[in-house]
Amino acid sequence: MSDDQRILDGSRVAAAIRAEVAAAVAELAARAVVPRLDAVLVGGDPASEVYVGSKARTSAELGMRSETHRLPAATRQDELEALVDRLNADPEVDGILVQLPLPRQLDTAAILRRVDPAKDVDGFHPMNVGLLQQNRPALRPCTPAGIMELLEREGIALAGRRAVVVGRSDIVGKPMAVMLLHAHATVTICHSRTRDLAAVTREAEVLIAAAGVCALIGPEHVAEGAVVVDVGMHRVGDRETAKASRITPVPGGVGPLTIAMLMANTLAAAKARRDL
Ligand code: GUN
Repeated sequence: MSDDQRILDGSRVAAAIRAEVAAAVAELAARAVVPRLDAVLVGGDPASEVYVGSKARTSAELGMRSETHRLPAATRQDELEALVDRLNADPEVDGILVQLPLPRQLDTAAILRRVDPAKDVDGFHPMNVGLLQQNRPALRPCTPAGIMELLEREGIALAGRRAVVVGRSDIVGKPMAVMLLHAHATVTICHSRTRDLAAVTREAEVLIAAAGVCALIGPEHVAEGAVVVDVGMHRVGDRETAKASRITPVPGGVGPLTIAMLMANTLAAAKARRDL
């Protein structure tokens, strides 16, 4: 197989999802509905600035509205909660995204619980986490939902296959494992305390590298012919690429999918809130 055929092209699938969202947004516009995404950024973390900027730009490209609320790094819990309450109550706002990580003085779990589940386009509210767990998903976390779209649209079968997720974060690893399970894969979750990680990951027919640690996955971790999805931090190298049958590139793999799914979630929230 040529290198081009082996690439799992997240950018291409993300573009297809964005085009579908844009078409649906145009249909809504005919009914005078324009979905709106509000992002909340506390402090000036440069990486978070980049993410929030690209969310705002993509919203505009797809015909949606967006607002970014910037709060100082020293913001208190009650001040952030007051903003979330205001966005919850604002009928113009369809999606609320509180950019993580939050500064240390803030209670992240309490903030995520405060967001109206119907506007929780990150899928981080305990209600949405629980619904996903029960396989009655409402709004799903964007990165694992994007990876599921990628695997499906690229024709990667999951039923009955061995999937290994490296990483157990609430944002990626845990929801990823649940989604793969619901797609009938046999799922193993590995993490920093897993003994003989390579022995476990070499069993994977589909390997999701989402540990947030660079260079955790090397060639000894990948079985010949495996499908490898690299969630960004790893930059799985050329040697691993040589063994995998299909692999996501970095950049151009998972990153664009996350934002495309955020747009899809905002559209879904806008429709569901209006019973459309
Ligand atoms: N920080 C890193 N990933 C994410 C994400 O998916 N959503 C939010 N809100 N913050 C993040």
